[in-house]
Amino acid sequence: MDATIETARLILRPYADSDADRILDIHSRLEVIRWLGNPPFVPMASRDEALVRMKEWRERDAQGEHTVHLAIEPRETGVLAGGVAMTPLPEDPEGRYEVGWHLHPDAAGHGYASEGATALLDAAFANGLDEVWCTMYPDNEASARVAQRIGLTDLGILPDRWYGGDSHLFHMTREGWLARDRD
Ligand SMILES: CC(C)(COP(=O)(O)OP(=O)(O)OC[C@H]1O[C@@H](n2cnc3c(N)ncnc32)[C@H](O)[C@@H]1OP(=O)(O)O)[C@@H](O)C(=O)NCCC(=O)NCCS
Repeated sequence: MDATIETARLILRPYADSDADRILDIHSRLEVIRWLGNPPFVPMASRDEALVRMKEWRERDAQGEHTVHLAIEPRETGVLAGGVAMTPLPEDPEGRYEVGWHLHPDAAGHGYASEGATALLDAAFANGLDEVWCTMYPDNEASARVAQRIGLTDLGILPDRWYGGDSHLFHMTREGWLARDRD
């Protein structure tokens, strides 16, 4: 997949070490990380941790065919707003992927997550991805609105085979995405 994706308002680009302070600012916030993955939710505590995290993302991106972690940079501000990612679902025997998003609270409410996720899905399906899942805590209403707004199929609250417990699950196939684009 191309490393950089451009949209009307955004540049989606690989993380750089110069993003470390902003990554620390975002990932040290429980209000952000409590929605990402399973507990325990451990806030990032140092700039060094941010550098290590970005290195891990780059290493994972080099491994998975469709795996990518991209920073969301609005052209208007040039300040990293958050990120979108396409990552393998954990221990999935079929090698399926999930799409994810997060924003710094100061960048919420502008549609950046929705615009970034739409562009990432366009690129991933163009790159040969067959299907994508999106799994979130049942009470993550802001994230559910993003998934609904961009047109993922809402499967409702169901047992989550990847993260355990019940999750709000969304799904999309390449065919469905392309058909949606034509609407
Ligand atoms: C999930 C999360 C990214 C949603 O952020 P968000 O700002 O609501 O999402 P978007 O950037 O797509 O913005 C959409 C909001 O901006 C508003 N908006 C303003 N201008 C807009 C525009 N041009 N286009 C689209 N939406 C616009 C929309 O009305 C919407 O607000 P609403 O949901 O109150 O109606 C954010 O809450 C977050 O980072 N949460 C913590 C991490 C997380 O939960 N990640 C997902 C894990 S599954």
